[in-house]
Amino acid sequence: MADIRFTARKADANAVVRTHCTVVVLPASLRMDTYCKALNKDSGGLIKAALDSGDFDGSVGATLMLHSAGASKRILLVGCGDKTGRDDLRKLIDAASAALLKHSASDAVMHAAALKLKAADAPWFAHALARRLVCDSYRFTASVSKPKPAAKLARFTLLAADPAAVRQAKDALSRGARTGEGINLARDLANLPGNYCTPDYLAKTARKLARGSQKASCKVLNEKAMADLGMGSLLSVTAGTATPARLIVLEYNGGKKNAKPHVLVGKGITFDSGGISLKPGAKMDEMKFDMGGAASVLGTLQAVISMQLPVNVVGIIAAAENMPSGTATKPGDVVTSMAGITIEVLNTDAEGRLVLCDALTYAERFKPASVVDIATLTGACVVALGSHASGLYANKQALADELLAAGVEAHDRAWQMPLWEDYQAQLKSNFADVANIGGPGGGSVTAACFLARFAKAYDWAHLDIAGSAWDSSPKGATGRPVGLLTQYLSDQAEKA
Ligand code: BES
Ligand code: MN
Ligand code: ZN
Repeated sequence: MADIRFTARKADANAVVRTHCTVVVLPASLRMDTYCKALNKDSGGLIKAALDSGDFDGSVGATLMLHSAGASKRILLVGCGDKTGRDDLRKLIDAASAALLKHSASDAVMHAAALKLKAADAPWFAHALARRLVCDSYRFTASVSKPKPAAKLARFTLLAADPAAVRQAKDALSRGARTGEGINLARDLANLPGNYCTPDYLAKTARKLARGSQKASCKVLNEKAMADLGMGSLLSVTAGTATPARLIVLEYNGGKKNAKPHVLVGKGITFDSGGISLKPGAKMDEMKFDMGGAASVLGTLQAVISMQLPVNVVGIIAAAENMPSGTATKPGDVVTSMAGITIEVLNTDAEGRLVLCDALTYAERFKPASVVDIATLTGACVVALGSHASGLYANKQALADELLAAGVEAHDRAWQMPLWEDYQAQLKSNFADVANIGGPGGGSVTAACFLARFAKAYDWAHLDIAGSAWDSSPKGATGRPVGLLTQYLSDQAEKA
């Protein structure tokens, strides 16, 4: 993939930078600042003519591309209206990125002084801008013979006022770009067809990430090793398929040697047919993204490793395929989890919790500072929250608050749901310690309640991303919640 190189440099207010494109911000008043005036002069009055024409009104997210014979071959006008709250800034970033990538400039600079950013917003802006450009350049190429051409943009420079601002912008641009690349890795993995992205493929991806850093290592458990650990619940899900399951453990030790790690546990069902409790045919293809949680773990670890965040992180991925066959687990079967809790499998389509519970028990050995599991767990979560918010559950409010805040900062938001004891009664079984489904009401809540029984040894949160990880039209993975998780781990690194 042709990556964009991001940098920042000090702007000289009167000297127009030689480039294929200058992005310049104008307020609703259309008042030109010094640099804008210099650009106008360099282009022979193009900006003034455009403003006089009425084709550009300076409203938030308005754009107009001008072509010039001057030092800057293109001038992209972007409106910022009167306000510059973060919602407006995001609108402006989205519009600027789309307009810039539509054209064939391979080198661009941006002059954003007109935004008059508050101190706290300046790095946020650079971060969000780089992330947006990287994400907007994403394209899926793995299984198409003639992929759409890559975006031309190869170099993006933010112009800043002074050396301190340049340093800060460089750092924020780099972190934003790396977050974007992590998001794109998660999208790529979740978009991959089930016959490409198998548990073993996820394992190979994890090994590749580990090879990229001295501080990272990867261990992959096969079914024999999982059986030896007593992971009867996870293994019951893979019983019907010929594709072997894997438990993937990716460790990154960027923090202090004895600092407790933050553990991310991903649901990695590389295809969910429902098993014997077979799903209906419509849209079943979309169940290739039932490893979206696993994809977000790998995307986040890639971002964390590439930023070399000073924090210890362990990614655990429970990877399996859920298929019906003569060897498949049957409704009514009782399986024994690694924790020793017996589970009545009333519905083989509630398989996510069956693989996750053993991974959560496995996580205990890392004596974690926190455990967050990420799973495309329930259709009920899509009904409850749609696609905008991930469902958040936690057994510790301080952890929930940190994740909610990280989601707001990264604009990858979660919404907290109840994990009340009252719901546990729905999981009662006559033939085992617990049933794997909780009946028709509160399906996302009872799924979380099931997991909570296996997460008592540490501070734990669960993100149900069934709605947020996938867009149905046009079809495609969103890469969520890599933004939230990467922000959360950056915050943890800062605290340490
Ligand atoms: N992977 C699905 C959940 C899902 C549904 C994700 C739609 C994304 C979009 C999960 O394994 C599942 O099948 N859950 C069942 C649980 C039920 C049987 C209790 C569901 O939601 O219907
Ligand atoms: Mn299922
Ligand atoms: Zn599933």
